[in-house]
Amino acid sequence: MENKELIFDSNIDKLIESADLTREAPTEEPYRQYWFMKKARELTEEKSRELNRRLTFCVNTFGCQMNARDSEKLVGVLERIGYVEAPDENADFVIYNTCTVRENANLRVYGRLGYLHSLKKKNPHMMIGLCGCMMQEPQVVEKLKKSYSFVNLIFGTHNIYKFAELVVAALTNNRMVIDIWKDTDKIVEDLPSERKYPFKSGVNIMFGCNNFCSYCIVPYVRGRERSRNPKDIIREIEHLVADGVVEVMLLGQNVNSYGKNLEEPMTFAQLLQEIEKIEGLERIRFMTSHPKDLSDELIEVMKNSKKICRHLHLPLQSGSSEILKKMNRKYDKEQYLNLVERIRKAMPDISLTTDIIVGFPGETEEDFLETVDVVEKVRYDSAFTFIYSKRTGTPAAAMENQIPEDVVKDRFDRLLARVQEIGRSMSARYTGTVQEVLVEEQNSQDTHLMTGRLSNNLVVHFEGDTSLIGKLCQVRLDECRGFYYMGTKVG
Ligand code: 5AD
Ligand code: SF4
Repeated sequence: MENKELIFDSNIDKLIESADLTREAPTEEPYRQYWFMKKARELTEEKSRELNRRLTFCVNTFGCQMNARDSEKLVGVLERIGYVEAPDENADFVIYNTCTVRENANLRVYGRLGYLHSLKKKNPHMMIGLCGCMMQEPQVVEKLKKSYSFVNLIFGTHNIYKFAELVVAALTNNRMVIDIWKDTDKIVEDLPSERKYPFKSGVNIMFGCNNFCSYCIVPYVRGRERSRNPKDIIREIEHLVADGVVEVMLLGQNVNSYGKNLEEPMTFAQLLQEIEKIEGLERIRFMTSHPKDLSDELIEVMKNSKKICRHLHLPLQSGSSEILKKMNRKYDKEQYLNLVERIRKAMPDISLTTDIIVGFPGETEEDFLETVDVVEKVRYDSAFTFIYSKRTGTPAAAMENQIPEDVVKDRFDRLLARVQEIGRSMSARYTGTVQEVLVEEQNSQDTHLMTGRLSNNLVVHFEGDTSLIGKLCQVRLDECRGFYYMGTKVG
C-alpha cells in the first residue's frame, strides 16, 4: 500500500463501473466502497424510474472547515450514486453533518429536525441522515433513537469513508441504521469528493487531536491524532492542481504537530516545503495552529515562502496564565506574546487572527482583563469570540465556579467591542497598496463587482467580470469599509 498510486477522480468512475455486483462486496478498501456505490446506483435508478424523476439531495454542514471538507466527500458519493443537488432541504436525501463544539450547535440540529420531519410526512421517500461530531456522543444517539425515530441513518466521524455502504444499508432497511465507531487508526484514501470551488480546496493532512484542552470535546469525538502519509497528500494536491486548483487549505486540528506519529516522522514545516515545490500551485493556507507547537522552523519556512499566505490563525483562548493552565493549553501569556513578537519580526505584514473563550470556569475580572490586554498588544485583524459552553465529559464541565450568565455576557460584549475596534483599524492598514487577489465569485448584490481574497485573507470587491474567477490579479485597495475593501483592478 505504501507506494500505491493515488487513484484520480476520473479513474474512480471507471473503477465503480467495473465493480462486479454478481459477486460479494470486496473486503479491501476503497474497492469495497466502489462496489457499494454501484449497488446504491442500482437502487436509486430503480426508485427514480418508479417516481419518474431524478432523486435529489441536500447536505447541510454545521461547524468547521473539517466538516466542510467531509461534506464534499459525502456529496462526491451522492452524485456518483445518482442523486442531483437540490437548492434546499426539500429533497430525497437530506444529510446534516453536525458539530458539537458548543451546545448551541446541537440545539440548532434538534430544531431543524422538527422541520425535516414535516417535510418527510409530505415525501415518504425522503431519507434523513445525520453524521459528524455530535453523533459521537452516546447521549445524543440515545435521544435520537427515542424521540427522532424518523431518522434513517446515523454515523460518526471515523467511518465516513464507508458512506456508500451505509447508504445501501439505509436504502434497503426500514429501520434506523446506526454505525458509530469509538475511535480508529484507519485512513482510507482515494474516495471521491465534489469541490465547492473549482479553484481552491481543503486538504486534510491529519485527523483527530491529542491535546485535551479541558473545555474541548473535539478529542473525544474526533479521536486520536493521525497524520496522512506525505506522499498521499502531495499526490492529492498535484491532482487538484491538474484539475484547476490554485489554492489549498491544509486542514488539521493542530497542524503544527503534523507528522509526529508517522513511520518516518516529518515536521509540518518540512511538509510545507514539499508542497511549495508543486508547480502550478499558487497559494498555501493552513488551519489550525496550536501556539505551543509553532516552531521557529515554521516561521522561517513561512518567511522564505512565496506561496504560503501571510495569515496565521493562532487561537489564544485566554490571556490569563492562570486560566490557560486550567485550560491545559501548555503556554502562558508571556510565551504567547513572545511567539507573536517572533512571528511579527520575521513577517511584519502578516495578519493574525484568533479564537477567544470568555467565561471559562473560575475566570475573574482580572483574568478577563489579561485577555483584553493580549488583544490590545497583539492587535488581531479579527477574532472569533465565544462564550464558554459546558460540554459533558470534559474536565472543565466538572470544575467549580462556573460563571453566571450575566457576568459572561457583559465581558463578552466588552471584548467584542474592543476586538472589532482594533480589527477595523488593522484591516485598514493596507489602504492605497496594490495586492495580489484570488478572484472567488461574483458579488451577489452588485453583479458588476467581483469578490476576491488577499493573501492575508481580507476580502476585496472590485469591478470586473466572471472570466476572472479562479485567477490571481493585482488590485489596488482604495477604501477599507470595516472588514473588507473596495478596490480597482490594475495592470
Ligand atoms: N466553549 C466555547 N468555545 C469553545 N471552543 C472549543 N470548545 C469550546 C467550548 N466548550 C472554541 C475554541 C476553539 C474554537 C474552534 O471553538 O476557541 O478554538
Ligand atoms: Fe480542542 Fe484544544 Fe484540540 Fe483545538 S487543540 S481541537 S481546542 S482540544
